[in-house]
Amino acid sequence: MRVLITGGCGFIGSNFIRYYNNKHPYHKIYNIDKLTYAGNLENLRGLEKRKNYHFIKGDISDALTMKKIFRQFRPDAVINFAAESHVDRSIESPALFLKTNFIGVSILLNLSLECRIKKFLQISTDEIYGSILHGSFRESSPLTPSNPYSASKAAADGLVMAYYKTYTLPALITRSSNNYGPYQFPEKLIPLTIINALHNRAIPVYGDGKHIRDWLYVEDNCEAIDTVFQRGAIGEIYNIAGENELTNIYVVKKILQHLDKNESLVTFVKDRPGHDRRYALSISKIRRHCGWHPKTPFSTGIKKTVAWYLKNKRWLKNCQTGAYRSFYKKYYSKRGLKNI
Ligand code: NAD
Ligand code: DAU
Repeated sequence: MRVLITGGCGFIGSNFIRYYNNKHPYHKIYNIDKLTYAGNLENLRGLEKRKNYHFIKGDISDALTMKKIFRQFRPDAVINFAAESHVDRSIESPALFLKTNFIGVSILLNLSLECRIKKFLQISTDEIYGSILHGSFRESSPLTPSNPYSASKAAADGLVMAYYKTYTLPALITRSSNNYGPYQFPEKLIPLTIINALHNRAIPVYGDGKHIRDWLYVEDNCEAIDTVFQRGAIGEIYNIAGENELTNIYVVKKILQHLDKNESLVTFVKDRPGHDRRYALSISKIRRHCGWHPKTPFSTGIKKTVAWYLKNKRWLKNCQTGAYRSFYKKYYSKRGLKNI
């Protein structure tokens, strides 16, 4: 099996490639990544020596390059992780999100059709359902995205399903809740809190800090994605969640406890515009149809995550490039936080 994986140098993609390569050592992996600020070749160190793994620098929204890649490698299947993934960045500059997350997906779908691939798996998100105060979203729930990132992902899901219905492209979709774990770029809540706490810097908590996310340990998500890839039905959508619903302030305080840091670092800042109050998914479909369930309780996952970042301070330092600093300097100074 020849699997083309896009966005494999990012957080979930790199964890997935390691997982997939261990589980299916005889499959060939072609990792296509643009290496944006979030893509890091270090995330897959060691793998480049393997004969069944190939990295190709490429942009999924560049049709000509992608055509050459598909023609050269003739994949049997495509798993699309590539995306601009950070909500705050999408609020500051939405255009790139539409280009990668929508146009990029349309290019992958056209080429997949042309090359008669056997399976197309789109990696999507719970954010596209929008906020829910009580209960949980099922795969059939309407999509009400609240920010440019989630709107671009919702549009992509629509297109994937349209290609399945119109052209019988063998496509399926996973929609997961918030992932955490090793190799997550330190702009998302958990790694950002860890890095700021390590430097005794203020930890920005948006609004009242009582927004709820359902935290999924990244290895559990990798297992779920592979399960859907192997056993999921074509034309179907599968929710994936950790069943660990927590407020942001609880998560931040837990990390401070693990690092033995003072809660005085917590700094409440202006809320994110369009900030979804709560995300919650029903995962009864993936349980029933694929036999998957989450394995890692938050207490275990966060301990492992903090330990990984403490052990990998060089990786963390290398992430803090000029691009990272200049975006956040501007972003947080607008929100009245100077010591970033
Ligand atoms: P990430 O930002 O860490 O990684 C994205 C990767 O995609 C990077 O390696 C980047 O270089 C690459 N990329 C970006 N634009 C590209 C382009 N035009 N062409 C090729 N490569 C490009 O993101 P992540 O957190 O690993 O998320 C991966 C996928 O999972 C995304 O599709 C995201 O929407 C989805 N998702 C993420 C979460 C989460 O909690 N992180 C939850 C649900 C779904
Ligand atoms: O739900 C799945 C989504 O989870 C993915 O689709 C996205 O790619 C991923 O980025 C993530 O989106 P969130 O916006 O939920 O993640 P983030 O880590 O940015 O924020 C988590 C919560 O913490 C959210 O309520 C906003 C809040 N927050 C975030 C940051 C970065 C803060 O309070 N302070 C912060 O500095």
